[in-house]
Amino acid sequence: MVWWPPAFPLMPETSKMIPTKKDFSAKARIRDMDEYKALYQRSVETPEAFWKEQAQSLTWMHPPDAVCDTSVPGEHNWFSGGRLNVAVNCVDRHAAATPDKTAIIWAKNEPGEYENITFAELKRNVGRVANVLRSLGVRKGDRVCIYMPMIPEAAYAMLACARIGAIHSVVFAGFSAEALRDRIVDAEAKVLFTANEGLRGGKKIELKRIVDDALDGMTMVESVLVARRTDADVPMKGGRDQWLDEAMAQQRAACPAEWMASEDPLFILYTSGSTGKPKGLVHSTAGYLLYTSLTHRYIFDAREDDVHFCAADVGWITGHSYIVYGPLCNGVTTVLFESTPLYPDASRYWKTADDIGATLFYTSPTALRALMREGDEPVKQGKRESIRVLGTVGEPINPEVWRWYHDVVGEERCPIVDTWWQTETGGILISPLPGATPLKPGSATLPFFGIKPLLVDANGNRIEGNDVSGLLCIEGSWPSQARTIWGDHQRFLNTYFTAFPGLYFTGDGCRRDEDGYYWITGRVDDVINVSGHRIGTAEIESALVSHDAVAEAAVVPKPHDIKGQGIHAFVVLTESSDLGADEVSGTLKQQVRHAIGAIATPEEVIAVDALPKTRSGKIMRRVLRKIIAGEAHQLGDLSTLADPTVVDQLLEKLK
Ligand code: PRX
Repeated sequence: MVWWPPAFPLMPETSKMIPTKKDFSAKARIRDMDEYKALYQRSVETPEAFWKEQAQSLTWMHPPDAVCDTSVPGEHNWFSGGRLNVAVNCVDRHAAATPDKTAIIWAKNEPGEYENITFAELKRNVGRVANVLRSLGVRKGDRVCIYMPMIPEAAYAMLACARIGAIHSVVFAGFSAEALRDRIVDAEAKVLFTANEGLRGGKKIELKRIVDDALDGMTMVESVLVARRTDADVPMKGGRDQWLDEAMAQQRAACPAEWMASEDPLFILYTSGSTGKPKGLVHSTAGYLLYTSLTHRYIFDAREDDVHFCAADVGWITGHSYIVYGPLCNGVTTVLFESTPLYPDASRYWKTADDIGATLFYTSPTALRALMREGDEPVKQGKRESIRVLGTVGEPINPEVWRWYHDVVGEERCPIVDTWWQTETGGILISPLPGATPLKPGSATLPFFGIKPLLVDANGNRIEGNDVSGLLCIEGSWPSQARTIWGDHQRFLNTYFTAFPGLYFTGDGCRRDEDGYYWITGRVDDVINVSGHRIGTAEIESALVSHDAVAEAAVVPKPHDIKGQGIHAFVVLTESSDLGADEVSGTLKQQVRHAIGAIATPEEVIAVDALPKTRSGKIMRRVLRKIIAGEAHQLGDLSTLADPTVVDQLLEKLK
């Protein structure tokens, strides 16, 4: 079966690629392109045999009867008949083999403060939290919401859910009360984990107060477990709220693990789509765990003695897959980083890496852009000698930032893995393998084992060959593919599997260059990628129009030096609006913060008389995007515009 002409890259001598590092490759799991090609071909030509063999890395309570049934797109099924428990794989088996090994290094907000948790301790703490949940009546399949800062209790809570078969829904602790409430209601969570306060850089975040606002008047959540991160006393609602440490102290450490079916949901994670309602992507137990642990092993070339420092937050998919589940399943020490890259200054990552001996380092282009702006000196304050692999994720990385990461941070010694993937994919789909793949700054390079990317045009025609651009789709399934959208399977099918029948549509544009390397060019749908976080324009627009003064809103991205993209909003005010011209932007920015959270705050909110629309009334965001980006000379075809004078008014306004 030839689905993609195997036009593998030319060797580095004959192209402008950056060759692999000899010393690294000599010891790597996959040492050159021949090894990669051979294993890749096997993985796509005989997937059953490939995945059956890989599945042996997991500890099963009952082995699966079948590998995969992927005949109907969107109804994929992996490892049916198998029984296993994620917490047993991520904790128990390592607690038995290496009880004193550090499972988690908690790098606290204040520089130089660390706490190590061994696998034996992790097992006891997860067991206690699991027993707390059981004592509260949480059973297999129940939903538990986790709204916590980056503290070990967040990982305990996730793994405790996994242990008893409850489905967790981690909500990033930067979301507002309103956004938290929507996610709780959608998942019908009966228990919620939080902390009295969170610490991030110089800021305290009043998490319990936000939770109280979110739960105000709601009876769905029966119990709130509050971790004690600071000394702050917070109001505790009788019959509902308990301190987590006190509840844990009442429980035994031993907690039997549920035998979960391979396809039982492990978690729900909300992400933005092109409608106002966030989507709760559902991930499976066996396939998710297998794929995240396998990609972690190969893409980071992970070893037993590695210290995996992924600076993401557990509120996002990166934190789920490459802080908690992937590394711990592999028995690798993982890092929970509570702070920010700039606190107290731009040397923070590198000093932390030195302190804890980090060997694998994973961050976002946004963080790197912010750090690069601070110059090389803060980097030099850290030795960085322990680091072997540098990774990036979340958005396209500009080649000059890639170069800086490679030359200054990695001192040309460390391979860079630019990993492309999504909340929906569960794990990394396109990435270099650090010992094998010659690199090109800005390219995520080539597909991982078992992954069949292809490009299509807007009509769904496959675009063959190299040096072409199109919409990125994936053919077939892979184990960690999301299984559904919580409570709305039809939306799942409509969103991902109907645009191009038979294929999974990623929502990204992409170029396949002359060497067959993939370059992700960004979202082609109504999703803005701000600092590596996905935010739907529809969500922001609905937050804006929920203000009495706003009749209509349209939100578009504009390139931003640090964030990648910034959010720019246009609003048409109601006749009755009493907002003064100088109040519009501030008031409506606050409105968005309140409805969604600080991450969705627009850079500017501009009041206009009218929005550009088609004759059928559809807002032409393309026109706004061009105008805001200063590309008014390239507005393209305006023949469908209902009122062409609107464009002139807008240009006049933005002068
Ligand atoms: O547009 C792509 C971009 O981030 C989107 C997925 O966002 P999210 O589900 O929040 O997951 C982010 C962390 C996995 C993608 O559709 N993206 C992610 N990684 C890259 C990227 N764009 C370019 N290069 C990447 N390495």
